[in-house]
Order: sequence, then structure tokens, then C-alpha cells
Amino acid sequence: MTETLSLPETHDRATRYQALIPQIKALIQDEDDLIASLANTAAGLFQGLNVLWVGFYLVKHKELVLGPFQGPIACTRIKQHQGVCGQSWAQRKTLIVDNVDDFPGHIACSSASKSEIVVPIWVQNQVVGVLDIDSIHLNDFSHTDQVALEDLNLTLSTKF
Ligand code: SME
Repeated sequence: MTETLSLPETHDRATRYQALIPQIKALIQDEDDLIASLANTAAGLFQGLNVLWVGFYLVKHKELVLGPFQGPIACTRIKQHQGVCGQSWAQRKTLIVDNVDDFPGHIACSSASKSEIVVPIWVQNQVVGVLDIDSIHLNDFSHTDQVALEDLNLTLSTKF
């Protein structure tokens, strides 16, 4: 297992994902434990992207429950339709929020968060969890993030 991530100097997201995603996949490919895989994925994304918070919420008994994450402490439970995470789960799709203040019902775990992306994880046509990333910058997430993270979540879905 590699112990350090090799990352390009550039802040260009597409270039960073190109370097980062294969390394995260390599890091978790021989690990079948879900929590271990999610934990190193959260750490890898946090290290590789310049963001405030990266983490997972997992569907448990009809709620999203906080899973492995990196960043400031966060709320532990989110109901379906609640906040960006609960909406992504309910709408069964990735949500990109350019300005969290414009998203009705956004849950502000940190007042420093300005934009957010939430990407569902699928197992047999069911959403089993979401990957949530928060940024201190407005408009920090785009289609580039969506494509890279949806691809990464396909790999993670094999761990459930
Ligand atoms: N902002 C999220 C809640 C989770 S925190 O950002 C870590 C939401 O509105 O669902």
C-alpha cells in the first residue's frame, strides 16, 4: 500500500482528479471492509482537494447517519428530504449547490461552508449512502467533480 499520495502542483480539479482517483482506487482495491475503505477515501479526497469537509452519510433505518469523514465535526443524522444530503437521497441524483445560502433547508454544519456537492452511492438501484463535500468557496463544484466522484462511488459501491 502506498502511504503517501502523489499530487500535481496545479489546483486544476480535472488534473488533480486524474492523479488522485486512481491512487484512491488502488488504496482500497484489496480492502473489502466498508468503513476502512470509506475512511481512506475521505482522507484521500480531503488531502487531494482543497475543501473544508469530505465525508459519507450512510442510510440506516430510513435516516442518513454520519460515517467516516475529514474536517470539522458534523451533524450525525439527516432525514430523507432534509438538507442537501437528504434531498440528494430523495431525488436519487447528484446535487451541486453553488451557494448554500440559496438552497432551502440547507443544513449548516459549519458557517464556513459556502458551496457543496452531494453524490449518491448505489447498490442494486438503491441509494445506500452519499458522499458529501463542502467548500469555503462559492461555486467550487462543477460537472468535473460530479463525473470523477460518481465514478469513484461506483468503486465504493462494491464494498457494501
Ligand atoms: N450541509 C449538509 C449537511 C452535512 S454537512 O455539510 C457535513 C446538508 O445540507 O445536507
